[in-house]
This record gives sequence, structure tokens and C-alpha cells, in this order.
Amino acid sequence: MGLHLIFVNLNTTFAAKLTSTMRTDRTFTMLKPDSVEKGYIGAILEKITGAGFKIVAMKLTQMTQSDAETFYAVHNERPFFGELVEYMTRGPIVAAVLEKENAVQDFRTLIGATNPADAAEGTIRKMYAASMGENAVHGSDSDENAEIESQFHFAGREIF
Ligand code: CMP
Repeated sequence: MGLHLIFVNLNTTFAAKLTSTMRTDRTFTMLKPDSVEKGYIGAILEKITGAGFKIVAMKLTQMTQSDAETFYAVHNERPFFGELVEYMTRGPIVAAVLEKENAVQDFRTLIGATNPADAAEGTIRKMYAASMGENAVHGSDSDENAEIESQFHFAGREIF
């Protein structure tokens, strides 16, 4: 086996190990500015904890323009990007890290579809979101992004 192949093999093994050790019991959420403005913080947190999620980090904070542009960089070519950044920076949000078995998927089920018009009855977006753009809550879409997004908002010592 050539040296190059040995390195490729080691890298593959390392990547597989990283994936297999990534935790699957945490997700990241934001109660977006519309939720805070309308006084929904308590009701939404009650839905979240009532569904079995434990809050392991939480704060009221406000994203700067550069925070929002970085956080949503994956959407920066989309026509709604400017509107999204304006919305997410216009007032405080509640950022939180949540713990539960199968956290990412279970939380996405709890919040419902991105567009509240398509969200299932009883989901947070069906109950509290106004529109596709102003959709009340964020939920990470993968274990990897949950980790990245949690670290974007919290120092290690703020996560319990
Ligand atoms: P979320 O899925 O949490 O993260 C990306 C956000 O972009 C999404 O919530 C909405 O707030 C916003 N978004 C997605 N699609 C649209 C759209 N078609 N028009 C306006 N905003 C959108």
C-alpha cells in the first residue's frame, strides 16, 4: 500500500470515528424576535420542556448584522437573505441548547414545517408563527450543525 493510500485510510477511519462519537442528544434553538415581541417565551418554553427536552444552556441576546450574516451564511444567495438578516437582528432572541434522546429530529417534529401554513396541528410553528419568514423558532437540522450553532452562541462553560 502506498503512503498516500495509508493516509487516506487513516483519514477515513478518523472521520468515521468522529461521526460515531458525535452526540445525538443535543440540539440548538432560538426563539426568534417575533416570539419575544409577542410575549410567547414562557408558552414556547413550556411546550419544549413539556415534550421532554432539558434546557442545558439559555440566554436572552440580540444578534448583530454580522452575527446573522454568519449564522445564515448558507442562505446568502437566496432572495430572502436581506429580509432574514433584518428580521433576526431587529430585537432580542432566546438562544438555548436542549437535551433529549434523538434531539435534532424530535425537536424538528415539535416545531413543525418551516412554513406555518404547512405545519402540523399542535406544533410550535402552527401555534405561534405568523409566516414562512417570521416563523417563531429555529431548530438545528443536523447533529453537526447543532454543535456548530451551540458554539456560535455559547461558551463551553455556559453549557451544562
Ligand atoms: P429556519 O428554517 O429556522 O432558517 C432559515 C430561515 O429563513 C427560515 O427559518 C425562515 O425564517 C427563513 N426563510 C426560509 N424560506 C423563506 C422564504 N421563502 N421567504 C422568507 N424567509 C424564508
